[in-house]
Amino acid sequence: MLEDFVLREKIFHFDHERIPERIVHARGSGAHGFFEVYESLAELTKADLFQRPGEKTPVFVRFSTVAGGAGSVDTPRDVRGFAVKFYTKEGNWDLVGNNIPVFFIQDAMKFPDLVHAVKMEADRAYPQAGSAHDTFWDWASLMPAHMLTWAMSDRAIPRSFRMMEGFGVHTFRLINASGKSSFVKFHWKPKLGLQSVVWDEALKLQAADK
Ligand code: HEM
Repeated sequence: MLEDFVLREKIFHFDHERIPERIVHARGSGAHGFFEVYESLAELTKADLFQRPGEKTPVFVRFSTVAGGAGSVDTPRDVRGFAVKFYTKEGNWDLVGNNIPVFFIQDAMKFPDLVHAVKMEADRAYPQAGSAHDTFWDWASLMPAHMLTWAMSDRAIPRSFRMMEGFGVHTFRLINASGKSSFVKFHWKPKLGLQSVVWDEALKLQAADK
């Protein structure tokens, strides 16, 4: 009965225990760190965090795979993404990147089709996490993409999040103090160098590291 508020409260909590996971980039890991200015970028931008060499801005980064769901492996053949939050004096600034410099599509209309092809079937939870499977090849064969060659390269099985390059992919526009604008790209270079596992290692890690 609706008047049984104890039951209704309990069922309300019960029904809300599980939040549906996000469709892409569901599985991630985070790290705190800092961004350090090596050379002033005042010529390009008036953004405070880029002005003074040596100045550090705290950041938090969330790294993720794209296709796998909760509990999926860390070593699938997949793109790695990362979302950087810069805690600047002017407020928080968010910037995303991928570890591959181009993207599968340019038209957002195709995004659900791309993701339906690469992700596991919603009712079967299979194929899981990776991108080298028949459903994805069906889509890729009809919509060939430059990124496919990158996704099938060693970049898609990085050794760790500390050993991959990062790319803002989009072209951004920065504006300096005198109002002059410049187009820029953001690239991240790993201090440890670019390193990947080999496919057999990836498979072994997936089996052992559960
Ligand atoms: C047509 C192009 C694209 C579309 C439609 C798209 C769409 C999406 C969607 C719907 C999400 C999930 C958001 C959520 O559940 O909260 C997402 C997450 C994400 N995307 Fe894209 N995306 C596109 C291109 C890109 C590109 C080019 C990059 C890399 C620069 C990128 C990097 C990411 C990252 C890193 C996340 C996870 C962010 C986080 O950890 O919070 N995406 N994208």
